[in-house]
Amino acid sequence: MKGSVVITGASSGIGEACAIYLDKLGYQVFAGVRREADAEALKCKALKKTIPIILDVTDEASIKTAVKMVQLSLGSHGLTGLVNNAGIVSTGPLEFLPISELRKQLEVNVIGQIAVTQAFLPLLRKSSTGRIINMGSDSGKVCSPLLGPYCASKFALEALTDVLRMELQPWEINVSIIEPGAVTTPIWGKSIEQVDKIWESFPDQAKKLYLPTLEAVRKTANKIGQKGISAEEVAKVVSQALAVKRPKARYVVGMDAKINILLAKIMPERVLDKLISLYLGLPKNAERQNSST
Ligand SMILES: NC(=O)c1ccc[n+]([C@@H]2O[C@H](COP(=O)([O-])OP(=O)(O)OC[C@H]3O[C@@H](n4cnc5c(N)ncnc54)[C@H](OP(=O)(O)O)[C@@H]3O)[C@@H](O)[C@H]2O)c1
Repeated sequence: MKGSVVITGASSGIGEACAIYLDKLGYQVFAGVRREADAEALKCKALKKTIPIILDVTDEASIKTAVKMVQLSLGSHGLTGLVNNAGIVSTGPLEFLPISELRKQLEVNVIGQIAVTQAFLPLLRKSSTGRIINMGSDSGKVCSPLLGPYCASKFALEALTDVLRMELQPWEINVSIIEPGAVTTPIWGKSIEQVDKIWESFPDQAKKLYLPTLEAVRKTANKIGQKGISAEEVAKVVSQALAVKRPKARYVVGMDAKINILLAKIMPERVLDKLISLYLGLPKNAERQNSST
């Protein structure tokens, strides 16, 4: 056996691809899902060494139970890897975004990642090669309009990854972050559903002010989401981060991510803002309206 790995958010997309890929490579995979139906669906995929576990990263009791299950299964062995992949996308203009949406976004994509990491660290310490891999994004380096909550969560994950990497260095527990660009997964459809839902609750004034931005971003998101790389390509990079002797701190995945991150590094902010606005086809010189009218 190559080792053992816990993957959060393995019901679909990148997490599921990681489970399948790592199972094929011979890892004992503990695939975190939130519903029994998703656990059953994974079992039907004829994965030899995958054990689905119920794991909601925002639920302390669920995390505790998952740790116990993994511990029981590993016996005296330690855990080789933790892939903090679970994530959601919350979108909406910050001016009107319900604060509960921002909380939810940070709870899943930031707080949940650390809660899971804390819970599994004792098992990772027991392994001589314990590693943590966080699923970041190029949105942790470059921001886009309407993606405020998501970008904030991925920027925060970048910082937490850097801190964890340094804090855990004395025990040689490596910590890496994966920074994919667009990957074709259900997350794109889910984010459009989410914005449509909160849009309904917006006051008329908000709809009037932000409709052109929403339409522009939605059109581009649809296009980008369909043209993304496959989730398997990200899974391959995760497998490298798990297996190489000296894992990198960051893995940028996909040409779009490489270009975006490079541009953010070298371009003056105002120029980058203009470029992003042009790319998204955002409205220019919108009429300044009094929000009380
Ligand atoms: N797709 C992209 O273009 C892209 C690019 C860069 C980074 N990423 C990152 O990659 C990761 C995976 O996203 P994906 O694209 O594969 O999307 P996805 O198919 O929607 O997968 C998201 C996974 O996270 C799970 N999840 C959501 N809330 C959870 C919670 N509270 N506890 C545990 N699991 C939870 C979902 O489970 P349920 O089915 O139960 O909701 C699902 O399994 C995310 O962190 C995302 O930010 C994606």
